[in-house]
Amino acid sequence: MAQLWGGRFTKETDKLVYNFNASISFDKKFYRQDMLGSMAHVKMLAKQGILTEEERDAVLAGIQGILEDVENGKLEITDEYEDIHSFVEAVLIDRIGDPGKKLHTGRSRNDQVALDMKLYTRDELTAIDGLVRELLSVLLRLMKENTETIMPGFTHLQKAQPITLAHHLGAYFEMFKRDRGRLHDIYERMNYCPLGSGALAGTTYPLDREYTAELLEFAGPTLNSMDSVSDRDYLIELLSALSTIMMHLSRFSEEIIIWNTNEYRFVEIDDAYSTGSSIMPQKKNPDIAELVRGKTGRVYGALMSLLTTMKGLPLAYNKDMQEDKELTFDAFDTVKGCLALFTGMLDTMKFNHDVMSESAKKGFTNATDAADYLVNHGVPFRDAHGIIGRLVLYCIEQNKAIEELSLEELKEISPVFEKDVYDAISMDTCVNKRLTLGAPGRAVMEQVISLNEKWMEEHPAL
Ligand code: ARG
Repeated sequence: MAQLWGGRFTKETDKLVYNFNASISFDKKFYRQDMLGSMAHVKMLAKQGILTEEERDAVLAGIQGILEDVENGKLEITDEYEDIHSFVEAVLIDRIGDPGKKLHTGRSRNDQVALDMKLYTRDELTAIDGLVRELLSVLLRLMKENTETIMPGFTHLQKAQPITLAHHLGAYFEMFKRDRGRLHDIYERMNYCPLGSGALAGTTYPLDREYTAELLEFAGPTLNSMDSVSDRDYLIELLSALSTIMMHLSRFSEEIIIWNTNEYRFVEIDDAYSTGSSIMPQKKNPDIAELVRGKTGRVYGALMSLLTTMKGLPLAYNKDMQEDKELTFDAFDTVKGCLALFTGMLDTMKFNHDVMSESAKKGFTNATDAADYLVNHGVPFRDAHGIIGRLVLYCIEQNKAIEELSLEELKEISPVFEKDVYDAISMDTCVNKRLTLGAPGRAVMEQVISLNEKWMEEHPAL
């Protein structure tokens, strides 16, 4: 049991208490950020004359050595220390002696852990943004390739109107684009440095907080020391943004699972992204999509858990806040894994164009366009709606599509129909005459694709 605070105690900590309180088993994850923060702190202390230049150089070299040894596996971060902060300080003192004892001058673990968590989160947020961007690139490629791939669009999971695959994928493009927007906003809002806030009330040492903020690439220092050590808002809003990403991935996964069924056969997931059954030899299951859908619950859980942890906390730091870590780390790892695998699955998936367009032709997806045809020939829309309703009923009885009826059959239902109706209700017309901005018509779809290409250029990875 290695602790930083034995002085005022007369008894050893109970072993169970020690284990319950310790955080090293999970906060060792941000060992690098902890050491980078300490290096910035020590540079600032020397600049302010609080440490000598020799002391600074000894500490910097010492921390650098610890960092390298941890990274190349020579030094193991073991559970005998309470937390990562104690580990670094203890090893430093062990290696360089007295100058190491000055590292913690003008600092508390409260502002230190606030800093470490922010630095780690900033790195993870950046990685996640990069992964969402890769998913967007794959989507954009598929959109470009599929502006003419006709498929049924659904409402209530019932065939509604024909669209294109580009249009359907474009809906997800918009969702993930907004997700990146949220990540960027959060990054900007959280990017203020808490270091120098001390335990809660700042410190009497003449620290230069602007300087440490600049060294660690923050936009500036935070402005209230009590808030700085107890703010976890940025994690809550990030977990909310991650929950939304997962919700989008989960909806998309659900569609892929449906599209991949024998009944639909719109897509075929690549063998590399499918799994088999131990008993049924014919099976090829969409496990990746199912797992992504399933893991969504974990990320929502992290959000609810942290919101609940924070709700009753008085100012300033309370140990409850240590609970922010495991669930947040799990959410980061889960989202990164899901994004990477989902993108790979999408990138290698085969879309069965013929099956999709055949499916669009069945199910009367051109019924609205048939009604519009009558409207264009002077029939009021409500009457046209009724006529086409009867027409659909007739088609169901005959087991035919509208366009498979003869002109005579059509005229029997409404004399307004002429030969040009066949062209007016063809799948190509139904899709490509829909030219309102955001609609599937090829011309506007291409316009939207080029707007989105520009957006990608204007929004490089963070
Ligand atoms: N391990 C703590 C946390 O994760 C940081 C240390 C603050 N500890 C303290 N006793 N003030 O929140």
